[in-house]
Amino acid sequence: MAKIYINGGNRLSGELKIHGAKNSALPILAATLLCQGESVIHNCPRLSDVAVSIRILENLGCVCSRNGNTVSVDATNVSGNDIPDNLMREMRSSIVFLGAIIGRTKSAVVSSPGGCELGPRPIDLHISSLRLLGIKISEDHGYLNCEVDSEITGNEINLSFPSVGATENIILAAALSKGTTVIHNAAREPEISDLADFLNSAGAKIYGAGSDTVVIEGVQKLNGTEHTVIPDRIAAATYICGAVATNGDIVLKNIMPSHQVALLNLFRQCGCEITPKNNTLRIKSISRPMRIPTIRTMVYPGFPTDAGPPVMALLSIAKGTTVFVESIFQNRFKYIDELKRLGANIKTQGNVAVIEGVPKLSGAGTECTDLRGGAALVVAGLVAEGTTEIDKIFHIDRGYEDIELNLKNLGADIKRE
Ligand code: UD1
Repeated sequence: MAKIYINGGNRLSGELKIHGAKNSALPILAATLLCQGESVIHNCPRLSDVAVSIRILENLGCVCSRNGNTVSVDATNVSGNDIPDNLMREMRSSIVFLGAIIGRTKSAVVSSPGGCELGPRPIDLHISSLRLLGIKISEDHGYLNCEVDSEITGNEINLSFPSVGATENIILAAALSKGTTVIHNAAREPEISDLADFLNSAGAKIYGAGSDTVVIEGVQKLNGTEHTVIPDRIAAATYICGAVATNGDIVLKNIMPSHQVALLNLFRQCGCEITPKNNTLRIKSISRPMRIPTIRTMVYPGFPTDAGPPVMALLSIAKGTTVFVESIFQNRFKYIDELKRLGANIKTQGNVAVIEGVPKLSGAGTECTDLRGGAALVVAGLVAEGTTEIDKIFHIDRGYEDIELNLKNLGADIKRE
């Protein structure tokens, strides 16, 4: 199995173009199912999760092709309504296909996603919301069977928590429907707006995406369209962590600083200079990073839970102590034991981690426990003295395109073998 090896200590410098957002590309690919004809998605990252999404689409009868970072999906002849268990297991977030499959075929059969590396991943909000749209859902031997008698029907939905996936599933199911759906307490993440922008360009009538109230006026038909995926704010945050940790000076291109406000404030507090200009960002580190007294992960526009692991790796070499509270996922700290192998001084209790910054980390053998935990190991490896070996890097490939090539171009001593 391939591993990444990093000889730490090199200062990152140079320019890097950030790839398209994984968490936008996945729901947008699901949304192509709703469109009669061909949709062309630009800036679609080359990631294993995207490859799984394309296999799901092909399994449903779509004709898909990729040319560089442009993916075309022709959904003219959708012939299936199910996601095989093996594909569902490969990517828990394939649950976002549920709303799109039902929207297109008026029925769906998917296996229940169960737990994942981040702990239990319930879908109760998805199910209760879809039921409010007139979709009948029953569970049988680990499978969810969904069907609609005649038409999906708009309704008022109050989410008890602004779940990203549930908001996306409701939008996908309600786009082709009778009547109007209003989502109260909707997730406000930029990826929700990106999904709505894609669907609106296909002919949908979705208003308010990016706010906590999203209104979807159902339409009868959507057409194939063309769309460019927004930049990946978590990949950008990861490379910034690498630059700050190595006292670097980098320019990130193709990013949207307005999507990164909470993170950029945090990096400034760490003591680095950040200069946004149009869709580029210069990050210049001045000295050893300063601690952040308290970090609490929150829904957008708060500090994103997915940026927690690389930021934790950065703070493990900061001057001072940080208290980190994970409030979105129950079981996100597995990677901390791996950071400790490199000499990080982190203590955890429940969802709270206390990071006492140490002056240096030392290379060691490690393995990824999950996608962003893997990113944390890369950041730590960039700064650790000696060689860091990272195993189970298939987790990293789910969310980072060409990570070792990008870091090599920025001056890191990194290779994949
Ligand atoms: C999405 C992102 C993920 C990110 C997360 C939070 C994708 C593919 N994944 O995941 O990278 O970390 O948003 O920003 O876009 N919950 C329930 N019941 C539900 C749904 C969610 O209890 O029906 C809980 C979850 O267990 C979790 C919290 O709500 O504790 C947040 O989940 P949610 O916002 O739904 O995240 P995802 O859509 O799974």
